[in-house]
Amino acid sequence: MLTVAVLISGAGSNLRALLDTTADDDFPARVIVVGGDREADGFQHAEDFNIPTMLVPWREYDSREEWGAELGEQLAVWRPDLVVLSGLMRLLPAPLVDAWSPRIINTHPAYLPEFPGAHGVRDALAAGVAQTGASVIIVDNGVDSGPILAQERVPVLPGDDEHSLHDRIKPVERRLLIDVVRRIATGELDLAAVRDARTPRPTD
Ligand code: GRF
Repeated sequence: MLTVAVLISGAGSNLRALLDTTADDDFPARVIVVGGDREADGFQHAEDFNIPTMLVPWREYDSREEWGAELGEQLAVWRPDLVVLSGLMRLLPAPLVDAWSPRIINTHPAYLPEFPGAHGVRDALAAGVAQTGASVIIVDNGVDSGPILAQERVPVLPGDDEHSLHDRIKPVERRLLIDVVRRIATGELDLAAVRDARTPRPTD
């Protein structure tokens, strides 16, 4: 059984979907802890499922590094097999990413490498594209630049605003995330192999 820690900042709708899915005995992964960088509404979902929570409020730390060090210590207590960033709106410091790589994944509401960053939906709309998408990636030390594990296109419709477009992307994100977690849990998806395939080797 794959154990999963989920980190959130917001409503946690993707977390909710993961909790609903992993509550099924036949699903090969379990969420063991939900963490966040602020008092996110999404913590309620963890409470609904009796999942422990860990809040590391970024505002209480002098630097990203100190905040990340505390988050890393708390994660280490739970020793999850996988860390899922599900709407965590804060870049993790390099030591934390390096400690968990490649067992740390992120969902993103755009078809990466298109529209990385905190405003992927808004940026796609501003660019006037006909389609955007959703992606699940391995987290690296760039901004949404890690190896892509799954992605799917989502059309931009006439009259879309950021809210309506994001609402149409999120169900796709959820489906991709759940499928990626399932494939990691069954061994069908080997995160280290995906990461290493993309890292140039000295002999290359
Ligand atoms: C998702 O679209 C995620 O990719 C983005 O923020 C959204 C989080 O939504 N970074 P929720 O908190 O899961 O509802």
